[in-house]
Amino acid sequence: MRVRVTARAACLLGLAVVSAACVGTQGQKPPARRPNVETATFPSEWTYQPGRTAPSAPNGMVASNCALATKAGVDILRAGGNAVDAAVAVGFALAVAYPEAGNLGGGGYAVLQMADGRTAALDYRETAPGGATPGMYIGRDGKPTDQSLIGHRASGVPGSVAGLLALLDKYGSMSRAQVIAPAIRLARDGVVVDEILRTSIAENADLIKRFAGAALFLPGGGPPAVGSRLVQADLAATLTRIADNGAAGFYKGAVADAVVREMRHGGGIMTAGDLASYAPAWRDPLKGSYRGFGLLAMPPSSSGGGTVIETLNILETYPEVPAWNSALALHRLASAFQRAFVDRNNSLGDPAFVRMPIDRMTGKAYAQTLRSGISDAKATPSSALKPISEGSETTNYCVVDRLGNAVGITTTINSLYGSGVWIPGGGFFMNNEMDDFTVQPGTPNQFGLVQGEANAIAPGKRMLSAMAPTIVLDPAGKVWMIVGGRGGPRIITAVVQAIVNAIDYRMPLADAVGAPRIHDQALPDVLEYEKGGVPADVVRALEAKGWKTRPAGTGSLTAIKRARAGSAQRWEGLFDPRKHGLAEGY
Ligand code: DON
Repeated sequence: MRVRVTARAACLLGLAVVSAACVGTQGQKPPARRPNVETATFPSEWTYQPGRTAPSAPNGMVASNCALATKAGVDILRAGGNAVDAAVAVGFALAVAYPEAGNLGGGGYAVLQMADGRTAALDYRETAPGGATPGMYIGRDGKPTDQSLIGHRASGVPGSVAGLLALLDKYGSMSRAQVIAPAIRLARDGVVVDEILRTSIAENADLIKRFAGAALFLPGGGPPAVGSRLVQADLAATLTRIADNGAAGFYKGAVADAVVREMRHGGGIMTAGDLASYAPAWRDPLKGSYRGFGLLAMPPSSSGGGTVIETLNILETYPEVPAWNSALALHRLASAFQRAFVDRNNSLGDPAFVRMPIDRMTGKAYAQTLRSGISDAKATPSSALKPISEGSETTNYCVVDRLGNAVGITTTINSLYGSGVWIPGGGFFMNNEMDDFTVQPGTPNQFGLVQGEANAIAPGKRMLSAMAPTIVLDPAGKVWMIVGGRGGPRIITAVVQAIVNAIDYRMPLADAVGAPRIHDQALPDVLEYEKGGVPADVVRALEAKGWKTRPAGTGSLTAIKRARAGSAQRWEGLFDPRKHGLAEGY
């Protein structure tokens, strides 16, 4: 049995077929045929049935994985701050109240469009320390060790503090002190531990207890009790130094000394010089389009934007959209993912180190070439796909303000609680982002990604990411949707499906995000689907086409979308029902 998606939002997209006035449309006319929204049905076994409502508000909206951080952002918006001020406040608040992924010791990516039309992308990904070498995680037996994931050698040089402050400097309107104040308060006065925080700490206790954070996060050997207050005095002091001195308050002086001391103590390789020389990189967002809508997406060193755009370009070559969740729709979707991931895994890396065919990869002509190799009858084994050649625990949040300034940010320390290393005197966890490099060609990383030479370890290099904060623009170029997520490569496939659900199937935001998803990353050569999300007869039909299938998890998203209530505009916000969080507006 299948359950119909309500057509509440169908009216929104009456304007989807328009001339290509949006960014990056490269002269391609959007197809004339639109799918019938009544064909979108959810299997009755699926947990998140259609019809849930997303919170909405007329002026501005913040959606994040952490209620306290969302509230910090909304307070800034109410106080007259713009979306960037609020996003920076959310970022610092996440570092306190959401320690599994919010961070000072990690990095991230931001994509933004200001109401005056300016667009930007900021890459504040971690970099490999100067002492890093390609073989540093290969043991004497020739096999990868666990040091890229756990302990002092797993960390790249953190970028979050420099990144958030660069965003504030260039596009914010408030002072450092104003936007960091909520985080300082949360650290100094304490966060009241709720069930989400207690469970998160309990589930990661084996990692946390190996390092200095144990005393704070596992008082008496176990997680703090629900209702107790988690006061983080070292972190409050670090945040105060950042508020007073800017990036130098973190990358130099007492905090940097504390990082270097802890690294030496645990056999890490990060030096004072590595910290002092860290700089985020401003980049032009990748610009693409999908059926008349514009896309602003993150360029390398993240693979997120390029892979999202390449996939959508392939799907756009089909003028007719098949019934949602049908064998044909999932076959085409997985075939598109598979091809985009082959290119991603083999060709992308840090633009400061490798030349990449990113323009060709995200172009409409290349999508046509790839499409000509897809048969509707049969799956192609990933081993038969050639990568593009050139002529030669993460958290996402979205903010929009009353002027229409919009920011999407994904930030991470990679695994939950990163490398486990917590900096005494600094008060924060360090990332284990080094595992995102190609540690050994042919060997999968923790997400099962098999990557190439373009992503080999080198001093100062940024490791390839899958983070994909994405802004979708309506055909008039106005912000229509902001979406991003967590889950390594599953971020990319989740973002694509939310966009496809919203545009092709006209689903309201709650359904576009809550709908079951599939995942294919080329290697392992398996089409994954969420349990209960794809009917058994559709799974059988996919297997008959040659797909190996298995039930598995997906990423989780946060998103904001413009909706209409009568003639008035409202912002709907949502955290993925698969995870926790809060979307709130004013
Ligand atoms: O940059 C990346 O692609 C990964 N470090 C992201 C990790 C992630 O999403 C973990 N989420 N739960």
